[in-house]
Amino acid sequence: MKRTFPLFLLPALAACSDVNWQSVLHPAGNDAEVIVEIAWVLFGGGTLIFVGVMIMLAMSLRHGRPHVRPAVWLIGAGVVFPVTVLSALLLYSIHRSQQLLAPVSHDALVVSVTAKMWWWEVRYRDPVTGRDIVTANEIRLPANKPVYLALTSDDVIHSFWVPALAGKVDMLPGRLTRLRVKTGAPGIYRGQCAEYCGEQHAKMALHVVVEEAPAFDAWLSNQAQPARATNDPLLAAGRQVFLTQRCAACHTIRGVADENLIGGQTLAPDLTHIGSRLYLGAGILRNEGENMRDWIAQTQRFKHGARMPGFADMPDHELDALARYLESLQ
Ligand code: CUA
Repeated sequence: MKRTFPLFLLPALAACSDVNWQSVLHPAGNDAEVIVEIAWVLFGGGTLIFVGVMIMLAMSLRHGRPHVRPAVWLIGAGVVFPVTVLSALLLYSIHRSQQLLAPVSHDALVVSVTAKMWWWEVRYRDPVTGRDIVTANEIRLPANKPVYLALTSDDVIHSFWVPALAGKVDMLPGRLTRLRVKTGAPGIYRGQCAEYCGEQHAKMALHVVVEEAPAFDAWLSNQAQPARATNDPLLAAGRQVFLTQRCAACHTIRGVADENLIGGQTLAPDLTHIGSRLYLGAGILRNEGENMRDWIAQTQRFKHGARMPGFADMPDHELDALARYLESLQ
């Protein structure tokens, strides 16, 4: 028997999750509010016209011979009506979408996002040192603030789409595209790559965490720090595993293994503060319980085709130490 997911449970699921549904109907940013307003006006207008046409159809079937001359129908309903309605809608949508093109404000926070198969590299500029602060798959933003997202790709075409914040913008190799967002209320908003980019396109998600300015500032200054040194024997053993298993050939942990660039590109997510992120593997697993360990051991089971091989052959005690060490990198 074919089983289907009971769709009526979706709202209940959404209510008990701290992550907002990836929905254009629940805007949490300026652009998304404009887009959803235009969509509702078009949908409402279309519905009214459809209902009107159906009523006239029913009347004509009931009353037989038409009472209006065909020429009046053709010119009135075939030319005047559509030209008036479409012109009004065009003017309205042009007027409303002007807001989507508002000039970049000078106090906008600049965040650059680079798409890769199949994850997102996120860079901030450290306001103190001017150096880059690198993280992955999670974008933190302060609430009610203009943000300028500089978007590009290191391999194929991807598309940046966080429906609660704004519309889609393509991310193209060798080109910079941009997205201006004005964030709204704090919350966690899911986003998704919106351009087919290979085997794991569907599992190329990201989360935007909007929080109050003080919380954001504290987060950013923590992210700017190198990884915390540790004297705990288990965590120190984990750090040693990170180095001996050659994780550092692709991954960076600032203070332990420095950024490794191949052809000017990073190969894998920066792990300096991996323990502070909500998800692993670009939105695949919550960063909790045994998921870190499982992800390292069975990467290919969770995300077949990802650049990272699974490390199922690693001895258990090494895997445990490595997972605990990475989780400790807050
Ligand atoms: Cu990246 Cu689809």
